[in-house]
Amino acid sequence: EKGDFEHYMLKEIFEQPKTIQDTYRGRIKADQKEIVLGGLLDVFPKIVNANRIIIIGCGTSWHAALVAEYLIEEYARIPVEVEYASEFRYRKPIINPGDVVMAISQSGETADTLAALKMAKAQGALILGICNVVGSSIARETDAGVYTHAGTEIGVASTKAFTAQVTVLTLFAFKLAKERGKISQELYEQLIGEMLAIPDKVQTILLSHPNIKKVAEKYKDAINALYLGRGYLFPVALEGALKLKEISYMHAEGYAAGEMKHGPIALVDDNLPVVVVSAKDSYYEKVVSNIQEVKARKGNVIAVVTEDDNGLRNMANDLFEVPESHPAVAALLAVVPLQLFAYYIAVMRGCNVDQPRNLAKSVTVE
Ligand code: F6R
Repeated sequence: EKGDFEHYMLKEIFEQPKTIQDTYRGRIKADQKEIVLGGLLDVFPKIVNANRIIIIGCGTSWHAALVAEYLIEEYARIPVEVEYASEFRYRKPIINPGDVVMAISQSGETADTLAALKMAKAQGALILGICNVVGSSIARETDAGVYTHAGTEIGVASTKAFTAQVTVLTLFAFKLAKERGKISQELYEQLIGEMLAIPDKVQTILLSHPNIKKVAEKYKDAINALYLGRGYLFPVALEGALKLKEISYMHAEGYAAGEMKHGPIALVDDNLPVVVVSAKDSYYEKVVSNIQEVKARKGNVIAVVTEDDNGLRNMANDLFEVPESHPAVAALLAVVPLQLFAYYIAVMRGCNVDQPRNLAKSVTVE
C-alpha cells in the first residue's frame, strides 16, 4: 500500500529510517558492544581466515558491493574484488581454495548473479548471499548468508534495498575487522554507535525534501548530469547517476572525482549540472579542488555537504545538507538526497517512476 505517498518509490525512500533499523535490529547486541550475524555464525571462522573475498552483483547491488570493498579492505584488511556478475560468469576467473564469494541481490533471482554463484560453488569457494527476498533462488544456493530486512520493494528503482544492503555489509565489515583483531574494542563500539545514529540522521535528510524538490525544479530540463565522489562516496555518485537515468531518462554518469580530468571534464559547460558528493573526510580538500575545476568551466555544482561544512557550501550553486557522520557510514546518508533528487526530477518530467520503461524488478534473463 502506498498510503499517503504518490508513488511506491517515494514511500520506500521515506521508509529508510525504519528499514535500516530493521536490518541492524537483533544484530547489534543490546549493550551495543557487539555485532552478531546469526546466518554466518557457522562459517565465520572460515571468513576470518579467507585469502580473498569476491563480491558479485548487478546494478545497485554492485554499488553496494563497492562500498563493502572499501570497508572490508580499510577495516578488516582482507583483499576484496568486486565484479559484475555478468562478467564474472563468462570470463575465466581464478577462484582458489580459501576464497569467499559473496553475492548481493535484492530479488535473489537475478540470472547473472545466480549463474556466477553456481560457477564459484562448483569451483569450491565458500558462497555467501546478501538477499532481501527470503527463500529466493540465490538465498537457497548459498552456503550461508544474511538477509536484509528492507521489506518488499515495489518501485523498480532500488532505494531502501540499497541502504539495507549497505547496512548489512557495514556490520559485516566491522565484525570481520574485530574478529581479525584489526580494530580495538573501543573503535568497534564507536563504529557501532555511528550505525545506531543513522536512522535519525536519515530522518533529518528526509525532512529537507522541500529543498531537494526546489533544486530538482531548477535542473529538470538538463540533458546530461555528472555525479562525482571519492572514497566511500564514489559508489554513491554511481548510484545517484543510476537512479537519475533509470527513472527520469536524463543521461547521467557517475565518476570517481579524480577521474574527471581524464575525460569527463570535457563535458562541463554552463548547461551541465555536476552533483558533487562530499563529506568532511580525508578526501575533502581534493573534492574542493574538483569543484573549483568545474566552477572554472562554468558548470553548475550541486553539492552534498555535511552540516559542519563551510568551504564547499560557498562554492556550490545548490546544496543538499546531510548530518555529519563517521566516513565509514557516510554512504548511507549521502545517497538519500540523491534518491529524492532523481525522484522529483522524474516526476517533473512526467515519467512513470515506479515502472520505468524497459526495466523489470527482477532480471531473470541474461
Ligand atoms: C537499480 C536496480 C537494478 C538492480 C539490479 C540487481 O535501481 O534496481 O540495477 O539493482 O537489477 O537486482 P538484484 O539486486 O535484485 O539482483
